[in-house]
Amino acid sequence: MTDSELQSYVVSLRRELHKIPETGVALPETGRFVTRELERLGIPYTQPNPGGGIWAEIKGGAPGKTAALRADMDALPIDEKTELPFSSRNPGYMHACGHDAHTAMLLGAARVLAGEREGLKGSVRLLFQTGEEIAKGARELIDAGALEGVDGIFGMHIGTLFGEKYPSGTILVPPGCCMASFDRFTLTISGFGCHGSSPEKGVDPIYIAGHVVLALRGLAAREIPAARAAVVSLGRIQGGRQYNLIPGQVELEGTTRALDQETRMKLARRLEEVSSGIAAAFGGHCRCEMDWGAPALTNDGRCAALAAEALRRDLPGVPVEDRLDAPNMGGEDFAYYLERVPGAYLFLSTYSSEKGTDFPHHNERFDVDESKLWEGSAAYAAIARRFLEEP
Ligand code: NI
Repeated sequence: MTDSELQSYVVSLRRELHKIPETGVALPETGRFVTRELERLGIPYTQPNPGGGIWAEIKGGAPGKTAALRADMDALPIDEKTELPFSSRNPGYMHACGHDAHTAMLLGAARVLAGEREGLKGSVRLLFQTGEEIAKGARELIDAGALEGVDGIFGMHIGTLFGEKYPSGTILVPPGCCMASFDRFTLTISGFGCHGSSPEKGVDPIYIAGHVVLALRGLAAREIPAARAAVVSLGRIQGGRQYNLIPGQVELEGTTRALDQETRMKLARRLEEVSSGIAAAFGGHCRCEMDWGAPALTNDGRCAALAAEALRRDLPGVPVEDRLDAPNMGGEDFAYYLERVPGAYLFLSTYSSEKGTDFPHHNERFDVDESKLWEGSAAYAAIARRFLEEP
């Protein structure tokens, strides 16, 4: 298959997928689309839960190692504003992170690799997961046994994650840590409700919440060494119903990000100690719940080097960067695979202001530069090929 045949195949798949965004861990329509395509390509697959993650296997002509390639398939609860002719047909939902492209690019790689399967020594396992945005899809596939027998795993994110420094078409494959851990916390501050005219008769959780908000701002700044990255952000604060009524409870919700496990655990511990200490000081109470997300994403040095080498060999002319200025503080549940199997996560930039593909991820106008989609497929195939060659 030529690059331009691959390109038109992947673009047509991506446009179909873009029309049918689904969120969470049940993606029935998307799953049907993917399994139908795998059947067409003659690649056997498994889907343990209806609407859930799928894995497929391309068995080579000779025995050898197993290389896994992963795509995520889920979308976001966003109203699309791109005005693309293949915009979302599912109102209120949108592929605003490029996972439609990931799925299409992996199917493109599947087609390439299936066409050369006789020459492959070993197997290529294709992982199509759900629920990346909620950090649940990778664990579903792992628990179902999708990593059994896998020797190395590779994944890729398309889009604008690392900004304008990397023009569209650049592939980044950094060794070491490249994305942060992401955890969600909920603080429930309880006081004692009363009339707004006589606050001394109650315990005001809004007042307590004000102190907690300020104190949490200081956590990263005062308790984590400046050279270590840490973020504590609040995304929701809710409480009260009327101007003259001091409520009994206020709820805060936020996220913590870190690049190492020690900082991640310290943030979680201090978050709870500081907020419950402040609540107690003012006569209230604070309950802290952690909803643990994925750990920081750390690429295996050898796998990253192998991937960079494969790209330079099989995709001459494609700019490959193997160093990052700084990790991205976003999270990625690909980190769960990397906890179990060595591998590397890559980034395919499609940042282009001329093409209007410079919007941030999760924006209602986010789009990818489609002219680079073949590159993603060719990159997946090149890496799998190279990985299986290595004894
Ligand atoms: Ni994403």
